[in-house]
Amino acid sequence: MDREKLLAAVREQVTEHRYQHTLGVMETAIALARKYGVNEKKAETAAILHDYCKFWPEEKMRKIIKRTPHIEKDLLDYDKELWHAPVGAEVVKQTLGIQDEKILNAIRYHTSGREKMKKLEKVVCLADYIEPNRIFPGVEEIRQLAENDIDAALIKAFGNTITFLVNRGKKVYPLTVMARNSLLAEQKNVQEELK
Ligand SMILES: [Fe+2]
Ligand SMILES: [Fe+2]
Repeated sequence: MDREKLLAAVREQVTEHRYQHTLGVMETAIALARKYGVNEKKAETAAILHDYCKFWPEEKMRKIIKRTPHIEKDLLDYDKELWHAPVGAEVVKQTLGIQDEKILNAIRYHTSGREKMKKLEKVVCLADYIEPNRIFPGVEEIRQLAENDIDAALIKAFGNTITFLVNRGKKVYPLTVMARNSLLAEQKNVQEELK
């Protein structure tokens, strides 16, 4: 599907505010893909579709999580903000015919991250954090890190998310902790190779 068709499909699903966010994620993901040698077209498609189910009713998402074998059921015990990512991947696969697993994984893990993230997943996840409409404390620092080191930027972003949740007495989804640990290990390996 081309860009315009995908954008039109998303526009029917989300608010105008979220649509503007989607455009920001798309532009940012394309720029990051170019910088870090990732397929730009795949980054564009995943970015456009990443929040497809953001505003779906809780019950509808719950049903999809329950009936889709490869969606972890423990997700239901965590913040509902996480649900739209794996549900979105499933829905765009079924309704828009998106079959590319790399694209689907970038959508699936854009909120939580996961261990051993692929480059395309990193690009979409980071673009979601730093697109130009985002204004939250610390976003500028992550934008700066993203200029030269996508892993350092994501470590900071996940760290901020974890701290935010802990400070509010909330549960942290394990995949986010694993994502950060895994990126720290990758970083350490790179540093040791350079010694
Ligand atoms: Fe999202
Ligand atoms: Fe988003």
